[in-house]
Amino acid sequence: MLSNDENQLLTRVGPGTPCGELLRRYWQPIAGARELTEEQPKKRIKILGEELVLYRDDNGGYGLVGERCSHRGTSLYYGFLEDGGIRCAYHGWLYDRTGRCLEQPFEPNPKFREQMLHPAYPVEKLGGLLFAYMGPQERKPLVPRWDILAWNNGHRAVIRQETLNCNWLQAEENSADITHTYFLHIQTLRHRAHKQTAGNSGEFRGDPPLGWRPGASDQVGFGRPFAKYGFQPFEWGLLKSWVYEGEHSSEGWGHPLIFPNMLRISAQMHWRVPIDDHRTEIIIVHFRLSEDGREVEEREDPLVEYMAPQVLAKGEYAMDTFFSHDKMAWETQGSLFDRSKEHLGESDRGIILFRKMLKEQIEIVRQGGEPRGLVRDPEKNTCIELVGWQNEGDLRTGSYWADGIARKRSRDEVFDERHEVFDVPYGAARPRSGATGS
Ligand code: FES
Ligand SMILES: [Fe+2]
Repeated sequence: MLSNDENQLLTRVGPGTPCGELLRRYWQPIAGARELTEEQPKKRIKILGEELVLYRDDNGGYGLVGERCSHRGTSLYYGFLEDGGIRCAYHGWLYDRTGRCLEQPFEPNPKFREQMLHPAYPVEKLGGLLFAYMGPQERKPLVPRWDILAWNNGHRAVIRQETLNCNWLQAEENSADITHTYFLHIQTLRHRAHKQTAGNSGEFRGDPPLGWRPGASDQVGFGRPFAKYGFQPFEWGLLKSWVYEGEHSSEGWGHPLIFPNMLRISAQMHWRVPIDDHRTEIIIVHFRLSEDGREVEEREDPLVEYMAPQVLAKGEYAMDTFFSHDKMAWETQGSLFDRSKEHLGESDRGIILFRKMLKEQIEIVRQGGEPRGLVRDPEKNTCIELVGWQNEGDLRTGSYWADGIARKRSRDEVFDERHEVFDVPYGAARPRSGATGS
Protein backbone atom coordinates (compact mmCIF):
# COMPACT_ATOMS: atom_id res chain seq x y z
CA MET A 1 0.00 0.00 0.00
CA LEU A 2 1.23 3.49 -0.79
CA SER A 3 0.05 6.86 0.49
CA ASN A 4 -1.42 9.12 -2.14
CA ASP A 5 1.74 11.24 -2.11
CA GLU A 6 3.98 8.22 -2.63
CA ASN A 7 1.74 7.02 -5.43
CA GLN A 8 2.02 10.40 -7.17
CA LEU A 9 5.78 10.39 -6.67
CA LEU A 10 6.27 7.02 -8.38
CA THR A 11 3.82 7.49 -11.24
CA ARG A 12 3.84 11.08 -12.54
CA VAL A 13 6.17 11.55 -15.47
CA GLY A 14 5.74 15.07 -16.84
CA PRO A 15 8.62 17.59 -16.99
CA GLY A 16 9.76 18.62 -13.54
CA THR A 17 8.16 15.67 -11.73
CA PRO A 18 10.65 13.59 -9.69
CA CYS A 19 9.90 10.32 -11.52
CA GLY A 20 9.79 12.13 -14.86
CA GLU A 21 13.26 13.49 -14.17
CA LEU A 22 14.53 10.01 -13.30
CA LEU A 23 13.09 8.44 -16.48
CA ARG A 24 14.62 11.24 -18.55
CA ARG A 25 18.09 10.04 -17.51
CA TYR A 26 17.65 6.86 -19.59
CA TRP A 27 17.51 6.59 -23.37
CA GLN A 28 13.93 5.71 -24.28
CA PRO A 29 12.82 4.05 -27.52
CA ILE A 30 10.42 6.25 -29.45
CA ALA A 31 9.86 4.39 -32.73
CA GLY A 32 11.14 1.71 -35.06
CA ALA A 33 13.51 3.25 -37.61
CA ARG A 34 11.27 1.80 -40.35
CA GLU A 35 8.38 3.93 -39.14
CA LEU A 36 9.99 6.89 -40.89
CA THR A 37 10.08 6.56 -44.65
CA GLU A 38 10.90 8.78 -47.59
CA GLU A 39 7.19 9.32 -48.16
CA GLN A 40 6.51 9.80 -44.47
CA PRO A 41 9.64 11.22 -42.84
CA LYS A 42 7.86 12.81 -39.87
CA LYS A 43 6.00 11.36 -36.95
CA ARG A 44 4.29 12.88 -33.96
CA ILE A 45 5.59 11.45 -30.70
CA LYS A 46 4.24 12.04 -27.23
CA ILE A 47 6.54 10.87 -24.51
CA LEU A 48 6.79 11.71 -20.81
CA GLY A 49 4.00 14.22 -21.27
CA GLU A 50 5.83 16.17 -24.01
CA GLU A 51 4.49 16.56 -27.53
CA LEU A 52 7.28 16.26 -30.06
CA VAL A 53 7.92 15.76 -33.77
CA LEU A 54 10.39 13.14 -34.91
CA TYR A 55 11.85 13.54 -38.40
CA ARG A 56 14.52 12.19 -40.68
CA ASP A 57 16.30 14.84 -42.65
CA ASP A 58 17.84 14.65 -46.13
CA ASN A 59 21.18 13.51 -44.72
CA GLY A 60 19.64 10.54 -42.93
CA GLY A 61 20.00 12.23 -39.53
CA TYR A 62 17.18 12.31 -37.02
CA GLY A 63 15.65 15.23 -35.21
CA LEU A 64 13.22 15.31 -32.30
CA VAL A 65 11.84 18.74 -31.55
CA GLY A 66 8.98 20.25 -29.59
CA GLU A 67 5.84 20.08 -31.70
CA ARG A 68 4.67 23.67 -31.07
CA CYS A 69 6.65 26.31 -32.91
CA SER A 70 8.36 28.78 -30.59
CA HIS A 71 6.88 31.65 -32.62
CA ARG A 72 3.11 31.23 -32.42
CA GLY A 73 2.68 27.60 -31.45
CA THR A 74 1.68 25.99 -34.73
CA SER A 75 2.50 22.29 -35.14
CA LEU A 76 5.86 21.61 -36.71
CA TYR A 77 4.52 18.27 -37.88
CA TYR A 78 3.24 20.19 -40.91
CA GLY A 79 6.62 21.87 -41.40
CA PHE A 80 9.02 21.37 -44.31
CA LEU A 81 12.21 19.39 -44.03
CA GLU A 82 14.68 21.64 -45.77
CA ASP A 83 17.79 23.76 -45.39
CA GLY A 84 19.27 21.71 -42.59
CA GLY A 85 16.24 21.48 -40.38
CA ILE A 86 12.49 21.73 -40.08
CA ARG A 87 10.74 24.88 -41.24
CA CYS A 88 7.43 25.90 -39.70
CA ALA A 89 4.63 26.05 -42.26
CA TYR A 90 3.08 29.16 -40.67
CA HIS A 91 5.76 31.90 -41.00
CA GLY A 92 8.80 29.91 -42.00
CA TRP A 93 10.95 29.82 -38.89
CA LEU A 94 13.63 27.20 -39.40
CA TYR A 95 15.03 25.02 -36.58
CA ASP A 96 17.93 22.61 -36.60
CA ARG A 97 17.97 19.36 -34.65
CA THR A 98 19.67 20.97 -31.65
CA GLY A 99 16.80 23.45 -31.34
CA ARG A 100 18.67 26.47 -32.69
CA CYS A 101 16.58 28.80 -34.76
CA LEU A 102 18.43 29.24 -38.06
CA GLU A 103 16.05 31.58 -39.82
CA GLN A 104 13.16 33.91 -39.13
CA PRO A 105 12.47 35.11 -42.66
CA PHE A 106 10.46 38.20 -41.74
CA GLU A 107 12.55 39.36 -38.80
CA PRO A 108 15.14 42.07 -39.38
CA ASN A 109 17.08 41.58 -36.15
CA PRO A 110 19.20 38.35 -36.07
CA LYS A 111 19.68 38.70 -32.30
CA PHE A 112 16.05 37.78 -31.84
CA ARG A 113 16.55 34.30 -33.26
CA GLU A 114 19.98 33.85 -31.72
CA GLN A 115 18.46 34.09 -28.26
CA MET A 116 15.91 31.44 -29.05
CA LEU A 117 16.25 27.80 -28.08
CA HIS A 118 13.51 25.46 -29.17
CA PRO A 119 13.04 22.16 -27.26
CA ALA A 120 15.07 19.45 -29.00
CA TYR A 121 16.43 16.07 -27.96
CA PRO A 122 19.16 13.85 -29.39
CA VAL A 123 18.13 10.68 -31.23
CA GLU A 124 20.23 7.59 -31.87
CA LYS A 125 19.51 4.44 -33.80
CA LEU A 126 20.38 1.00 -32.47
CA GLY A 127 19.09 -2.44 -33.46
CA GLY A 128 16.37 -0.90 -35.60
CA LEU A 129 15.01 1.30 -32.84
CA LEU A 130 15.26 5.04 -32.47
CA PHE A 131 16.12 6.14 -28.95
CA ALA A 132 15.75 9.62 -27.48
CA TYR A 133 17.48 11.16 -24.50
CA MET A 134 15.48 13.85 -22.72
CA GLY A 135 17.64 14.50 -19.66
CA PRO A 136 20.32 17.14 -19.03
CA GLN A 137 22.70 17.08 -22.01
CA GLU A 138 25.83 17.21 -19.87
CA ARG A 139 24.67 13.98 -18.17
CA LYS A 140 23.90 12.07 -21.36
CA PRO A 141 25.01 8.41 -21.05
CA LEU A 142 25.63 5.92 -23.89
CA VAL A 143 22.73 4.12 -25.50
CA PRO A 144 22.97 0.70 -23.81
CA ARG A 145 23.83 -2.02 -26.30
CA TRP A 146 21.63 -4.74 -24.82
CA ASP A 147 22.58 -8.11 -26.31
CA ILE A 148 19.46 -8.49 -28.45
CA LEU A 149 20.21 -5.09 -30.01
CA ALA A 150 23.91 -5.81 -30.47
CA TRP A 151 24.12 -9.43 -31.71
CA ASN A 152 24.80 -9.69 -35.40
CA ASN A 153 24.02 -13.34 -36.10
CA GLY A 154 20.31 -13.10 -36.36
CA HIS A 155 17.37 -10.95 -37.26
CA ARG A 156 15.41 -8.49 -35.27
CA ALA A 157 11.79 -7.45 -35.42
CA VAL A 158 10.31 -4.41 -33.78
CA ILE A 159 6.87 -5.15 -32.42
CA ARG A 160 4.37 -2.45 -31.54
CA GLN A 161 1.42 -3.14 -29.32
CA GLU A 162 -1.64 -0.92 -29.28
CA THR A 163 -1.38 1.94 -26.80
CA LEU A 164 -1.87 0.89 -23.22
CA ASN A 165 -4.45 3.05 -21.50
CA CYS A 166 -2.85 3.22 -18.10
CA ASN A 167 0.12 4.58 -16.24
CA TRP A 168 3.51 3.01 -17.02
CA LEU A 169 4.05 1.75 -13.45
CA GLN A 170 1.15 -0.72 -13.68
CA ALA A 171 2.92 -2.44 -16.57
CA GLU A 172 6.37 -2.31 -15.02
CA GLU A 173 5.23 -3.57 -11.62
CA ASN A 174 3.94 -6.61 -13.45
CA SER A 175 7.54 -7.38 -14.43
CA ALA A 176 8.22 -7.87 -10.73
CA ASP A 177 5.15 -10.10 -10.34
CA ILE A 178 5.94 -13.74 -10.96
CA THR A 179 2.86 -15.36 -9.60
CA HIS A 180 0.37 -13.69 -11.95
CA THR A 181 1.34 -16.00 -14.79
CA TYR A 182 -0.36 -19.04 -13.28
CA PHE A 183 -3.89 -17.65 -13.11
CA LEU A 184 -3.86 -14.73 -15.52
CA HIS A 185 -2.22 -16.58 -18.37
CA ILE A 186 -2.48 -20.31 -17.88
CA GLN A 187 -5.78 -20.69 -16.06
CA THR A 188 -7.42 -18.09 -18.31
CA LEU A 189 -6.45 -20.12 -21.35
CA ARG A 190 -7.53 -23.34 -19.70
CA HIS A 191 -10.93 -21.93 -18.82
CA ARG A 192 -11.35 -20.69 -22.35
CA ALA A 193 -10.33 -24.05 -23.79
CA HIS A 194 -12.91 -25.86 -21.69
CA LYS A 195 -15.66 -23.61 -22.93
CA GLN A 196 -14.48 -23.93 -26.47
CA THR A 197 -16.97 -25.11 -29.01
CA ALA A 198 -16.18 -25.72 -32.64
CA GLY A 199 -15.30 -22.52 -34.41
CA ASN A 200 -15.40 -20.14 -31.48
CA SER A 201 -12.46 -18.03 -30.47
CA GLY A 202 -11.17 -20.16 -27.61
CA GLU A 203 -7.92 -20.82 -29.39
CA PHE A 204 -4.69 -19.18 -28.47
CA ARG A 205 -3.58 -16.69 -31.08
CA GLY A 206 0.09 -16.94 -31.92
CA ASP A 207 2.47 -19.34 -30.22
CA PRO A 208 1.07 -21.39 -27.35
CA PRO A 209 2.93 -21.20 -24.04
CA LEU A 210 5.80 -23.61 -23.93
CA GLY A 211 4.68 -27.16 -23.46
CA TRP A 212 1.14 -26.06 -22.81
CA ARG A 213 -1.83 -27.99 -24.14
CA PRO A 214 -5.42 -27.27 -23.20
CA GLY A 215 -6.60 -29.62 -20.50
CA ALA A 216 -3.43 -31.68 -20.27
CA SER A 217 -2.50 -32.89 -16.82
CA ASP A 218 1.05 -33.88 -17.69
CA GLN A 219 2.25 -30.37 -18.27
CA VAL A 220 5.84 -29.66 -19.02
CA GLY A 221 7.42 -26.27 -19.27
CA PHE A 222 5.72 -22.99 -18.61
CA GLY A 223 2.33 -23.33 -16.99
CA ARG A 224 3.04 -25.87 -14.30
CA PRO A 225 2.30 -24.83 -10.71
CA PHE A 226 5.12 -23.10 -8.89
CA ALA A 227 6.50 -24.69 -5.74
CA LYS A 228 8.71 -21.71 -4.91
CA TYR A 229 9.40 -18.25 -6.18
CA GLY A 230 11.95 -15.64 -5.26
CA PHE A 231 13.44 -12.22 -5.92
CA GLN A 232 16.81 -10.62 -5.96
CA PRO A 233 18.12 -7.19 -6.99
CA PHE A 234 20.97 -7.38 -9.52
CA GLU A 235 23.18 -5.04 -11.49
CA TRP A 236 20.53 -4.00 -14.00
CA GLY A 237 17.38 -4.27 -11.93
CA LEU A 238 15.54 -7.15 -10.34
CA LEU A 239 15.69 -10.89 -10.95
CA LYS A 240 12.82 -13.25 -10.36
CA SER A 241 13.12 -16.94 -9.83
CA TRP A 242 10.77 -19.82 -9.69
CA VAL A 243 10.82 -23.55 -9.20
CA TYR A 244 8.04 -25.66 -10.62
CA GLU A 245 6.31 -28.38 -8.69
CA GLY A 246 8.34 -31.59 -8.88
CA GLU A 247 11.48 -29.85 -9.98
CA HIS A 248 14.78 -29.78 -8.22
CA SER A 249 15.38 -26.44 -6.54
CA SER A 250 18.59 -25.92 -8.47
CA GLU A 251 16.54 -25.75 -11.65
CA GLY A 252 14.39 -22.94 -12.91
CA TRP A 253 15.04 -19.27 -12.61
CA GLY A 254 13.55 -16.12 -13.86
CA HIS A 255 13.65 -13.43 -16.43
CA PRO A 256 14.84 -10.04 -15.33
CA LEU A 257 13.18 -6.70 -14.84
CA ILE A 258 15.58 -4.14 -16.25
CA PHE A 259 15.47 -0.84 -14.41
CA PRO A 260 13.63 1.44 -14.83
CA ASN A 261 11.03 0.48 -17.43
CA MET A 262 12.01 -2.71 -19.23
CA LEU A 263 11.41 -6.43 -19.10
CA ARG A 264 13.59 -9.09 -20.65
CA ILE A 265 11.90 -12.36 -21.66
CA SER A 266 14.02 -14.88 -23.56
CA ALA A 267 15.24 -13.03 -26.63
CA GLN A 268 12.79 -10.18 -26.31
CA MET A 269 13.10 -6.85 -24.63
CA HIS A 270 9.94 -4.97 -23.74
CA TRP A 271 10.02 -1.24 -23.04
CA ARG A 272 7.13 0.47 -21.27
CA VAL A 273 7.47 4.07 -22.35
CA PRO A 274 5.14 6.59 -20.71
CA ILE A 275 3.21 8.73 -23.15
CA ASP A 276 1.81 10.71 -20.23
CA ASP A 277 0.50 9.85 -16.78
CA HIS A 278 -2.37 7.77 -18.15
CA ARG A 279 -1.06 6.10 -21.30
CA THR A 280 1.92 3.95 -22.13
CA GLU A 281 3.57 2.78 -25.32
CA ILE A 282 4.85 -0.79 -25.42
CA ILE A 283 7.79 -1.34 -27.75
CA ILE A 284 9.31 -4.79 -28.14
CA VAL A 285 12.42 -5.98 -29.95
CA HIS A 286 12.54 -9.66 -30.74
CA PHE A 287 15.79 -11.34 -31.76
CA ARG A 288 15.89 -14.53 -33.78
CA LEU A 289 19.10 -16.40 -34.38
CA SER A 290 19.98 -17.01 -38.05
CA GLU A 291 19.44 -20.56 -39.32
CA ASP A 292 23.04 -21.62 -39.00
CA GLY A 293 23.94 -19.16 -36.29
CA ARG A 294 26.18 -17.27 -38.66
CA GLU A 295 26.57 -13.54 -38.87
CA VAL A 296 24.05 -11.83 -41.08
CA GLU A 297 24.34 -8.50 -42.67
CA GLU A 298 21.19 -6.58 -41.96
CA ARG A 299 20.98 -4.30 -44.94
CA GLU A 300 17.73 -2.77 -43.87
CA ASP A 301 16.29 -1.76 -40.57
CA PRO A 302 14.07 -4.45 -39.05
CA LEU A 303 10.44 -4.64 -39.95
CA VAL A 304 7.94 -3.12 -37.60
CA GLU A 305 5.10 -5.48 -36.79
CA TYR A 306 1.85 -4.22 -35.35
CA MET A 307 0.18 -6.59 -32.95
CA ALA A 308 -3.50 -7.35 -33.43
CA PRO A 309 -5.81 -5.31 -31.16
CA GLN A 310 -6.50 -6.95 -27.82
CA VAL A 311 -9.84 -5.32 -27.28
CA LEU A 312 -12.83 -6.64 -29.21
CA ALA A 313 -15.38 -4.49 -31.00
CA LYS A 314 -17.80 -4.88 -28.11
CA GLY A 315 -15.24 -3.30 -25.79
CA GLU A 316 -14.13 -6.45 -23.94
CA TYR A 317 -10.60 -7.78 -23.83
CA ALA A 318 -10.03 -10.65 -26.22
CA MET A 319 -8.31 -12.71 -23.47
CA ASP A 320 -6.78 -15.01 -26.06
CA THR A 321 -3.15 -13.88 -25.92
CA PHE A 322 -0.76 -13.18 -23.10
CA PHE A 323 -0.77 -9.57 -24.21
CA SER A 324 -4.52 -9.25 -23.94
CA HIS A 325 -4.44 -10.90 -20.51
CA ASP A 326 -1.85 -8.44 -19.27
CA LYS A 327 -3.61 -5.50 -20.87
CA MET A 328 -6.81 -6.47 -19.08
CA ALA A 329 -5.01 -6.82 -15.75
CA TRP A 330 -3.19 -3.49 -16.04
CA GLU A 331 -5.89 -1.30 -17.54
CA THR A 332 -8.68 -2.49 -15.28
CA GLN A 333 -6.64 -1.31 -12.29
CA GLY A 334 -7.61 2.17 -13.49
CA SER A 335 -5.79 4.67 -15.69
CA LEU A 336 -3.64 5.55 -12.66
CA PHE A 337 -4.08 2.88 -10.03
CA ASP A 338 -4.84 4.16 -6.53
CA ARG A 339 -2.32 2.15 -4.53
CA SER A 340 -3.74 3.35 -1.21
CA LYS A 341 -6.45 0.72 -1.77
CA GLU A 342 -4.25 -2.30 -2.43
CA HIS A 343 -3.23 -5.06 -0.01
CA LEU A 344 0.22 -6.42 -0.72
CA GLY A 345 1.17 -9.89 0.49
CA GLU A 346 4.40 -11.89 0.55
CA SER A 347 4.05 -12.84 -3.08
CA ASP A 348 4.20 -9.13 -3.90
CA ARG A 349 7.71 -8.91 -2.51
CA GLY A 350 9.07 -8.17 -6.00
CA ILE A 351 6.76 -5.19 -6.34
CA ILE A 352 7.88 -3.88 -2.97
CA LEU A 353 11.56 -4.27 -3.92
CA PHE A 354 11.02 -2.56 -7.24
CA ARG A 355 9.19 0.39 -5.66
CA LYS A 356 11.97 0.74 -3.11
CA MET A 357 14.54 0.81 -5.91
CA LEU A 358 12.50 3.36 -7.83
CA LYS A 359 12.08 5.59 -4.82
CA GLU A 360 15.79 5.45 -3.99
CA GLN A 361 16.77 6.32 -7.54
CA ILE A 362 14.29 9.20 -7.68
CA GLU A 363 15.89 10.55 -4.52
CA ILE A 364 19.41 10.17 -5.95
CA VAL A 365 18.43 12.23 -8.99
CA ARG A 366 16.73 14.78 -6.77
CA GLN A 367 19.99 15.18 -4.85
CA GLY A 368 21.89 15.74 -8.08
CA GLY A 369 23.38 12.23 -8.28
CA GLU A 370 23.61 9.57 -10.96
CA PRO A 371 20.91 6.87 -10.94
CA ARG A 372 21.72 3.17 -11.33
CA GLY A 373 22.22 1.37 -14.61
CA LEU A 374 23.52 4.20 -16.79
CA VAL A 375 26.23 3.07 -19.20
CA ARG A 376 29.24 5.31 -19.72
CA ASP A 377 32.08 2.89 -20.42
CA PRO A 378 32.30 2.13 -24.18
CA GLU A 379 34.18 -1.10 -23.47
CA LYS A 380 31.43 -2.40 -21.24
CA ASN A 381 28.93 -1.34 -23.85
CA THR A 382 30.08 -3.58 -26.69
CA CYS A 383 27.34 -6.05 -25.81
CA ILE A 384 25.52 -6.08 -22.49
CA GLU A 385 24.61 -9.69 -21.92
CA LEU A 386 21.53 -10.16 -19.83
CA VAL A 387 20.88 -13.33 -17.97
CA GLY A 388 17.65 -14.85 -19.15
CA TRP A 389 15.12 -17.42 -18.18
CA GLN A 390 16.71 -20.41 -19.78
CA ASN A 391 16.55 -23.66 -17.88
CA GLU A 392 13.69 -25.11 -19.84
CA GLY A 393 15.17 -27.38 -22.47
CA ASP A 394 12.71 -26.78 -25.26
CA LEU A 395 12.77 -23.01 -25.25
CA ARG A 396 12.25 -21.75 -28.75
CA THR A 397 15.06 -19.32 -28.28
CA GLY A 398 17.26 -21.62 -26.23
CA SER A 399 19.50 -22.13 -29.20
CA TYR A 400 21.29 -18.91 -28.66
CA TRP A 401 22.87 -20.42 -25.58
CA ALA A 402 23.72 -23.66 -27.31
CA ASP A 403 25.33 -21.77 -30.15
CA GLY A 404 27.59 -19.97 -27.80
CA ILE A 405 26.35 -16.46 -28.49
CA ALA A 406 25.69 -16.02 -24.84
CA ARG A 407 27.07 -17.94 -21.95
CA LYS A 408 24.57 -19.90 -19.93
CA ARG A 409 25.01 -19.23 -16.27
CA SER A 410 24.34 -21.57 -13.43
CA ARG A 411 21.83 -20.67 -10.79
CA ASP A 412 24.61 -20.24 -8.24
CA GLU A 413 26.36 -17.82 -10.50
CA VAL A 414 23.24 -15.71 -10.79
CA PHE A 415 21.75 -15.70 -7.31
CA ASP A 416 23.47 -14.88 -4.01
CA GLU A 417 22.56 -14.32 -0.37
CA ARG A 418 20.16 -11.52 -1.34
CA HIS A 419 17.88 -14.06 -3.01
CA GLU A 420 14.61 -14.19 -1.04
CA VAL A 421 12.67 -17.38 -1.66
CA PHE A 422 9.05 -18.12 -0.76
CA ASP A 423 7.14 -21.42 -0.73
CA VAL A 424 3.78 -21.66 -2.42
CA PRO A 425 1.25 -23.23 -0.03
CA TYR A 426 -0.74 -26.19 -1.30
CA GLY A 427 -4.09 -25.08 -2.63
CA ALA A 428 -5.54 -23.55 -5.78
CA ALA A 429 -2.15 -22.47 -7.08
CA ARG A 430 -0.41 -25.72 -6.11
CA PRO A 431 -2.71 -28.72 -6.27
CA ARG A 432 -1.49 -31.57 -4.02
CA SER A 433 -1.43 -34.07 -6.82
CA GLY A 434 1.09 -31.99 -8.64
CA ALA A 435 -1.34 -31.86 -11.52
CA THR A 436 -2.36 -28.50 -12.85
CA GLY A 437 -5.98 -28.71 -11.85
CA SER A 438 -7.36 -28.94 -15.32
S1 FES B 1 4.12 29.84 -35.78
FE1 FES B 1 5.82 28.93 -36.61
S2 FES B 1 6.78 30.45 -37.74
FE2 FES B 1 5.08 31.42 -36.90
FE1 LIG C 1 1.94 -11.45 -17.85
